[in-house]
Amino acid sequence: MMHVLITGAAGFIGSHACRACLGRGWRVTGIDNFDPFYDRAIKEQAIAGLHEESGFRFVEGDIRDGTAVCGALEGTGTGAGAGVDVVLHLAARAGVRPSIEDPDGYVSVNVCGTATLLESCNKAGVKRFVFGSSSSVYGDSTPVPFSEDAEAMDPISPYAATKRAAELHCKVYTHLHDFRIAALRFFTVYGPRQRPDLAIHKFARLMSTGAPIVQFGDGSSERDYTHIEDILQGTLAAIDWVMEDAPAFELFNLGESKTVRLSYLIELIAGALRVEPKVEIRPAAPGDVRRTCADITKARRVLGYDPSMSIEEGIRRFVTWYNATYGCPA
Ligand SMILES: NC(=O)c1ccc[n+]([C@@H]2O[C@H](COP(=O)([O-])OP(=O)(O)OC[C@H]3O[C@@H](n4cnc5c(N)ncnc54)[C@H](O)[C@@H]3O)[C@@H](O)[C@H]2O)c1
Repeated sequence: MMHVLITGAAGFIGSHACRACLGRGWRVTGIDNFDPFYDRAIKEQAIAGLHEESGFRFVEGDIRDGTAVCGALEGTGTGAGAGVDVVLHLAARAGVRPSIEDPDGYVSVNVCGTATLLESCNKAGVKRFVFGSSSSVYGDSTPVPFSEDAEAMDPISPYAATKRAAELHCKVYTHLHDFRIAALRFFTVYGPRQRPDLAIHKFARLMSTGAPIVQFGDGSSERDYTHIEDILQGTLAAIDWVMEDAPAFELFNLGESKTVRLSYLIELIAGALRVEPKVEIRPAAPGDVRRTCADITKARRVLGYDPSMSIEEGIRRFVTWYNATYGCPA
């Protein structure tokens, strides 16, 4: 039975990935250090139901701690911890704007942590690796739609620079140690349990209490918002791909390949919540790119990635989850 080690297992994407892998009948070991970037209780809640699953094992630990990582990779006996086949690496300090305040912390986890993880995998002989990278690596000077062929050497935030550095570090492990690695460039991911700092979740929280939201820029900035269900389909396909034989390193964009204007996003969330939004307009924030849009030709061709969620349906589903979890607006 296939056994996946998922780093950042208690996070937004990680907790969904744990369920998706268990749903395939795989064993899952999750590792997470409950980084204080957002409330630990949210993360504990995200994995609460998983502890009863017989195929699931959770290790509270830091990916920068080689001993903790080796323990997670080695596993125990023949149970849920034995013999990791593949690593899905999602642990990170995420978020563009906070990275400007704490670049050292981002480098420590996203670059040094990835290096420790890769080296621990190498020592344990686990050479199949899927890395959760980011569309932010394309910066503001790459022509849209962003293609994996673009150089992506002009990041505009510490977060983006750490993700690009970690991708390059992965590539070294293919060259030196015959790893087979897929680096997935996620385009703004949303859905149930989305990180509370991200726009859709933050806007829903503020709008539902009648508080004003801050719109950075004139509302014309555009993002390729990607629903978690589509991200999971692409991520599972990438795990299948790394299980094939030859050593390789490939980059894949996982987006919807559609752009949504910020002003339209606000309108959709307010409409689904049935509230009149109060919007404070501030200048565009440093580090934020103006537009993201994924060219997904390669992911379609190689992985069979086939995203299907419209932003209208995705926001409806998000708000249904939000209201069920936190209560409808008064
Ligand atoms: N959500 C998005 O829109 C998006 C977009 C592009 C890329 N990504 C990437 O996808 C991955 C998952 O993102 P997310 O939105 O689920 O974020 P998240 O913050 O919800 O999840 C990350 C998890 O990693 C854990 N973590 C942080 N530092 C750690 C450490 N040193 N050791 C062990 N665990 C640690 C955190 O506690 C958290 O649970 C990240 O690598 C992120 O950079 C996310």
